[in-house]
Amino acid sequence: MQRRRYTHPPARNLLAMPVPPVIEWRDGAVRILDQRRLPDAVEVLHCTTVEQVNEAIRTLAIRGAPALGVAAAYAVALAATRVDAPDETTYLERLDHVIDQVIATRPTAVNLAWAAERLRTAAREQPENDIRAIRTSLLDLAHEIAADNEQRHRALAEAGADLFASGQRVLHHCNTGPLATAASYGTALGVLQAANQRHGIEVVVSETRPLLQGGRLTTWELAQWGVPFTLITDSMAADRMRRGHIDAVIVGADRIAANGDVANKIGTYSHAVAAGAHDLPFYVAAPLSTIDFDTPNGDAIPIEERATEEVHGYGDWRWSPSDAPVANPAFDVTPHQRITAIITEHGVHRPPYLESLRRFAAAPDAAA
Ligand code: MRU
Repeated sequence: MQRRRYTHPPARNLLAMPVPPVIEWRDGAVRILDQRRLPDAVEVLHCTTVEQVNEAIRTLAIRGAPALGVAAAYAVALAATRVDAPDETTYLERLDHVIDQVIATRPTAVNLAWAAERLRTAAREQPENDIRAIRTSLLDLAHEIAADNEQRHRALAEAGADLFASGQRVLHHCNTGPLATAASYGTALGVLQAANQRHGIEVVVSETRPLLQGGRLTTWELAQWGVPFTLITDSMAADRMRRGHIDAVIVGADRIAANGDVANKIGTYSHAVAAGAHDLPFYVAAPLSTIDFDTPNGDAIPIEERATEEVHGYGDWRWSPSDAPVANPAFDVTPHQRITAIITEHGVHRPPYLESLRRFAAAPDAAA
């Protein structure tokens, strides 16, 4: 995999630079902005094989549920151009195997499997019995998923913006901006960007241990937009609430079960419990593609367990004995009872979620 380095100035200078797309298809390859290096450097990975895209997904070079959906779609489209077979049946079998590998890269964010399965279905339904036609239709569908992402997130940001009033301080966890959606707007951060444009708000950014998506990525995006923010460590949130320095909480989601239980970045549940204890609203923002109607509740959501090194230290710094026992679940589940509302591209959904979400799956154009 080629790594193209655009620059390596101090982080502050990067704010003034044009940022390459989070992911794009160019010249028969997938190019991915390497989020592991942000905000210190803007580097682009040039992936010519599906294994390279899978590695970029596993190691969080690209991350965030909606962006993972786009990455999965392009990974499968790329594989479709590389897989060879003597006949269509063997081709589809080989492609199936690759799709399973793409889906296995990260188990919690349902958008990834959702996109990969859409391409699997499209490959099987291709009427022309022709491998070249399958390749073209899968790439077209991957482009369609990427473009659709753009419209959905714009609508979602607009739908949630008026939940917040002028001057409110809103706690946000992890990173849910364009870096996480591969679109111009994010999910929770898109809502806050739109709320700031309309009313003027302030974001309280929790740094998000262990991989610091809040501290590294959310601060970087907010600084580029000129949205006022304060960065805190995750453990400061409850104290800020008790002192009256936080008015509401908003997060994204990696998977929403049919009953409204939400899997999101580890630490989300702690913020929800603290918000409940201080009578603060707790909002979740996600596109409909993040809702998994086949998963009845949060207990059935698979939670990704990541490498122990991520908790032992960060970068080159190790702060614990290398054999210290470690737990590292990447996500937690917030029960639906703790969620004030779920914002999708179709509006603001209130409890009971089983009914309000299912209504939109059936008739997405109905009013919220
Ligand atoms: O492990 P990550 O960085 O992929 O986790 C991302 C999150 O948990 C986000 O909050 C979620 O995907 C929503 S992104 C719009």
